[in-house]
Amino acid sequence: MDRVVYLDNAATSWPKPEAVYTEADRFFRQDAANPGRGTHAMARRAAAAVDRTRRLVAELFGCSHPSRVTFGPGATDALNTALKGLLGPGERVLTTTLEHNSVVRPLHRMRGSHGTQWLTVPGDAAGVMDLEALEQQLSARPTRLVVVNHASNVTGVIQPLAEIAKLAHAQGALIAVDTAQTAGVVPFSMSRDGIDLVAFSGHKGLLGPMGTGGLVVGPEVSLSPLREGGTGSASEQATQPRQLPHRLESGTLNAGGIAALGTSIKWLLDKGIETLGRREAQLGQRLAATLGGLDGVSVVGRPAPNDETSHVGVVSFSLENLDAAEAETILDQRFGIAVRAGLHCAPHAHKALGSFPGGTIRASVGPFTTDNHIDGLVEAVKELTTIAPAEPV
Ligand code: ALA
Repeated sequence: MDRVVYLDNAATSWPKPEAVYTEADRFFRQDAANPGRGTHAMARRAAAAVDRTRRLVAELFGCSHPSRVTFGPGATDALNTALKGLLGPGERVLTTTLEHNSVVRPLHRMRGSHGTQWLTVPGDAAGVMDLEALEQQLSARPTRLVVVNHASNVTGVIQPLAEIAKLAHAQGALIAVDTAQTAGVVPFSMSRDGIDLVAFSGHKGLLGPMGTGGLVVGPEVSLSPLREGGTGSASEQATQPRQLPHRLESGTLNAGGIAALGTSIKWLLDKGIETLGRREAQLGQRLAATLGGLDGVSVVGRPAPNDETSHVGVVSFSLENLDAAEAETILDQRFGIAVRAGLHCAPHAHKALGSFPGGTIRASVGPFTTDNHIDGLVEAVKELTTIAPAEPV
């Protein structure tokens, strides 16, 4: 079978390290009891697998204690919990211009239902938050939370987390970070960088299965749960336990997915996040520079100067002669190259970048992307630029 040239790692990473497939298979055959819902040997082994992943996530994110790592279905659920579990009626929240709909849609709704005051802080041409504007906004009115998309899923641009956190804390605000595109790719530390809430996805840069992820809650933060229910603890009480992680983990966990996620995180830690992430950023940088040099191709959201430290390996571009969706289809059907075109569930980001409503073609690399994959995409794009544009109807 011809293998696809997979350049859609920002949507979900593929392939996964071999050990991840092995662990998922092993867990479901041998240990797939309900973690924390019994004391028999199989349930204890399932709970041990979940605890192992909790410790690895805490180590990866520089979190003060593994119990503050809470698991759920992914970054979207985690961001909903962070926003709805923290913000009281009428409280103020500041965001970047590049947020995903997992932040935009909850805030849009909360503006109507809770009087949430949501303000977007302007960014530079790449969308990096203007720190002076942030400081001004923070000192103008009391603000509860600053939400930051650590790296944009549209352009890959990285935000200066530690600086933003410092400014937020100086004015008594908390900082929540959407790490969907950076967990497992860009090293950061909650304790060192002063991050209060980390929403993470397990199936992207962390190389685990879909349906995994969670919210890591810093020591200064107390959250209401989005849902109450069985936690396997304090079952005699009608109220949700106050202790983490149970407070935010009602219902049976995706233990098999979490076990496999632990194995992928171990793989990443062994290889070195910094080394892997730098290589991915370099591949993205080379792709962006090469595409940017082609007639009829515009790279979006990477104004000069940009380099491997300013962006993760996510590159958005558009073609003069084809719309993004058409280009995606031709890349798939004629060249066997998987990319994602359109708005990438981030219409605000595309508005800020000037690529709304048509969107862009996005190529995103992972640890298994090779130079040949990048060269293959460049050659295919060169051919795309020679296609005659469709006649207007
Ligand atoms: N948010 C994911 C993406 O950027 C699904 O494709």
